[in-house]
Amino acid sequence: MTDTTPVDETAPDTTPSTEDRGSNRSQRPVSEAFKSFITSQWGERPDLGVEPGEAVPFTAERRAKLSARFPGARLVVPAGPLKVRSNDTDYRFRPHSAFAHLTGLGTDHEPDAVLVLHPVADGEGDPDGSGNGTHHHAVLYVRPLAARDTEEFYADSRYGEFWVGARPSLDDVTTLTGIEARHVDELRDALAKDVGADGVRVLVVTGSDEGIEALVEAIREEAGVAQEAEAAADEQLVEATSELRLVKDALELEHLREAVARTIEGFEQVVPALPKAVAHRRGERVIETTFDAHARLEGNTVGYETIAAAGEHATTLHWITNDGVVRSGELVLLDAGVEVDSLYTADITRTLPVDGEFTDVQRRIYTAVLDAADAAFAVAKPGTKFRDIHAAAMEVIAARLEEWGLLPDGVTAEVALSPEGQQHRRWMVHGTSHHLGLDVHDCAQARRELYLDGVLEPGMVFTIEPGLYFKADDLAVPEEYRGIGVRIEDDVLVTADGNENLSAALPRRPEDVEAWMARLRG
Ligand code: GLY
Ligand code: MN
Ligand code: MN
Repeated sequence: MTDTTPVDETAPDTTPSTEDRGSNRSQRPVSEAFKSFITSQWGERPDLGVEPGEAVPFTAERRAKLSARFPGARLVVPAGPLKVRSNDTDYRFRPHSAFAHLTGLGTDHEPDAVLVLHPVADGEGDPDGSGNGTHHHAVLYVRPLAARDTEEFYADSRYGEFWVGARPSLDDVTTLTGIEARHVDELRDALAKDVGADGVRVLVVTGSDEGIEALVEAIREEAGVAQEAEAAADEQLVEATSELRLVKDALELEHLREAVARTIEGFEQVVPALPKAVAHRRGERVIETTFDAHARLEGNTVGYETIAAAGEHATTLHWITNDGVVRSGELVLLDAGVEVDSLYTADITRTLPVDGEFTDVQRRIYTAVLDAADAAFAVAKPGTKFRDIHAAAMEVIAARLEEWGLLPDGVTAEVALSPEGQQHRRWMVHGTSHHLGLDVHDCAQARRELYLDGVLEPGMVFTIEPGLYFKADDLAVPEEYRGIGVRIEDDVLVTADGNENLSAALPRRPEDVEAWMARLRG
């Protein structure tokens, strides 16, 4: 990695203060001769050949739906800033999901950009996809490509073309997104226009960019607008952008199918790597890096940190340290998803016997989890309450635990399933399902009545992921169960009359898992 901060090489050699240490190592010249030479003699910029993105008509429709919920209000949706990883080094950028959903921009586009839906007279706004005008006109405020005669071009390690590559021009952004693009320097005035207690309201999607939130607050303050009511309205905007994603459109479904397909390929690459994992002192890392390499090669990255949990580690629900050994005879739980360039992710778990064959007790536990998943699949159809998917899975889990004699004395499955009981949850403390999309836990800010208490509709996509986790030191279970964790997780689309298991191509039944592993290991 190259150091970033300019320092005059000719300056006297003095010991820097602690605050100056960031500029301690740089050797970039600041002479006028250097500046005039580095900013001159560059060829014509090539035409990037930007074409309208496939998302253009879909994002117009998404914005129109948001517009209909907030007539008269200015809606601010920041992409978010770069985040410091350490000192002068940033994390790879990922835009906020509400921004990605409403603009169609994916991968690492575009730090500090802000989508603003400006209120206009009813019906005078952008077309809504059916040709009608909405209540808003959308503008994307972006930092455009800097000219080569600017200091930013060569000296700005965060944004400069020399350091991070050329950004698209404003025209390119407009072509790509179908949204008018303007220089981010115009943002403040554009946000403040006509704002007032009796004027335009300005609402911001919070949780993405603290700088933009502070700017909006300052604008409200200057305009004499009481902040409290606006904070509640901001929350409604956050809810709305989350709820807008509860039912996926055709393009989202295409991207989710792509994410699932790439993820299944990643699982297929892990199976032949298992012998190498067994041989390595940190075998879980062999599994993690095999999957993650595929995610990076064929998608944008992973949709969340890969869980590669062998043996007892599988009983830690979000085990991402992945530094354990992989032992012959044990199970390995792989919970992983490829996020494709549009930022949609899959979220799939399979629990695999390291040697390719389940032992009797492993199969018994695995089958109970599979039956719980199948029970959840059986009720996942339009009209079912979201929370009843979980209830269906829990009925099976509680029944099996009763059958195995694991529930406390006198506690039947029925007692355990009552709100006052819940003893079975000792072995599965997580929920069975969550919505899936741009975020692995998508739509998380949706109102409870639309999520947990909501009713399934065609186009919803969520996981079904029951599990059983018996910790190595769990004295409430017989020894043979201890140290075994099983989760089976699939990605499910609600259809007009039932559901489609989007990840069905990845075997789930124990005998199918064994046959699949045998085939992949050759
Ligand atoms: N990988 C996180 C989850 O399954 O929800
Ligand atoms: Mn999940
Ligand atoms: Mn998962």
